[in-house]
Amino acid sequence: MLNKEDVLERLKDVKYPGFEKDIVAFGFVKDIEVKDDNVFIEVDIVSSSPEVAGELKADIVKKVTLVGAKRVDVVVKQPKAPTQKSNSQSGKNMAPHIKNFVMVSSGKGGVGKTTTTVNLAIALASQGKKVGLLDADIYGPNVPRMMGVVGSGPEIVGQKVKPILVYGVEMMSMGSLMEEGQSLIWRGAMVMKAIEQLLKDILWSDLDVLFIDMPPGTGDAQLTLAQSVPVTAGICVTTPQQVALDDTERSLDMFQKLHIPIAGIMENMSGFICPETNKEYDIFGKGTTAPLAKKFNTQVIGEIPIEPAVREGGDAGKPVVFFKPESETAKRFQESAKKLWIVIEKVNEEGGANNEAIQPTIGVDGGASASACSTSGCGH
Ligand SMILES: Nc1ncnc2c1ncn2[C@@H]1O[C@H](COP(=O)(O)OP(=O)(O)OP(=O)(O)O)[C@@H](O)[C@H]1O
Ligand SMILES: [Mg+2]
Repeated sequence: MLNKEDVLERLKDVKYPGFEKDIVAFGFVKDIEVKDDNVFIEVDIVSSSPEVAGELKADIVKKVTLVGAKRVDVVVKQPKAPTQKSNSQSGKNMAPHIKNFVMVSSGKGGVGKTTTTVNLAIALASQGKKVGLLDADIYGPNVPRMMGVVGSGPEIVGQKVKPILVYGVEMMSMGSLMEEGQSLIWRGAMVMKAIEQLLKDILWSDLDVLFIDMPPGTGDAQLTLAQSVPVTAGICVTTPQQVALDDTERSLDMFQKLHIPIAGIMENMSGFICPETNKEYDIFGKGTTAPLAKKFNTQVIGEIPIEPAVREGGDAGKPVVFFKPESETAKRFQESAKKLWIVIEKVNEEGGANNEAIQPTIGVDGGASASACSTSGCGH
């Protein structure tokens, strides 16, 4: 069995990139947790260079694996690059080790944001991505119920909290941190603090995507989130009726004002599939979001029918994508997840929200200028 001391000893072999001194001697190792040969390490470094972080992480994983760790999760904390462009309003990034943030919003309540977020997250995880889900609906957190983890308290590690791993997705919600049935009246400032803490004080892995399930509308939670992290893409969920579409337009407008790239509109409750006959009926209408998508220069990322299994799965904590993968709804969520990933890749290629990862290194610690010189052969 591994213990902390073994891990710490091995970390003394990890040199800080570009230096002779190791990261333990530098005092960069902030936290080591060992459980069942799974190791979590947090280091806090002084360089904002992604190359330095990547090199360091690879070296740590290599060295710690050699002493028998089954899985090594490394969080490298870094200061922000001085020239970092960020579409978070404040230029802040409270969870820089997470590669992409996807905000799921809606103008109206009850249109299926949480259902969409949960199923898209599970779908993307099943497609091989490392996925997390943050329930930012501080007023009415529903994610624990929909993921079947009501009452499972999370593990506390020092001052931090481990996300709950469920259906291949790391999840955290205020609902998991409060007593069951407890209701809270939140003021704006408290919502801000709560969301910031859910980003900072949760031990999220180095996720490919963190989905964020928002409360309905355009309020404190949305603004706080946009100020706290660079949001890679937003999804707006709506139902097909005109009254819902009016509110959806406000939500899309908010994304635009916050400079959040819109991944698409999810048309939920789009037609009804009769479980007996498999025939499809229009209840609230269908296909009504396409003109709105066009107006905002985006796509309809999916049309999810009303399916009793979706509601049953939501109430029972058994999401359709996981428990009924053969259902039409599950297939459509899988398709939507693929479309979302294409948008995320495109935003990153264009240097959009996630540009810390692709910013050229600024020569604060000499790294970039040195390598630029050696490749150009200037001899310095
Ligand atoms: N496609 C669907 N078919 C059947 N039931 C659905 C579908 N989408 C959502 N529901 C059900 O509708 C209800 C509302 O969905 P959900 O909680 O996901 O909406 P929401 O937008 O997150 O609501 P809120 O604004 O309160 O956070 C839930 O009971 C859910 O199971
Ligand atoms: Mg919800």
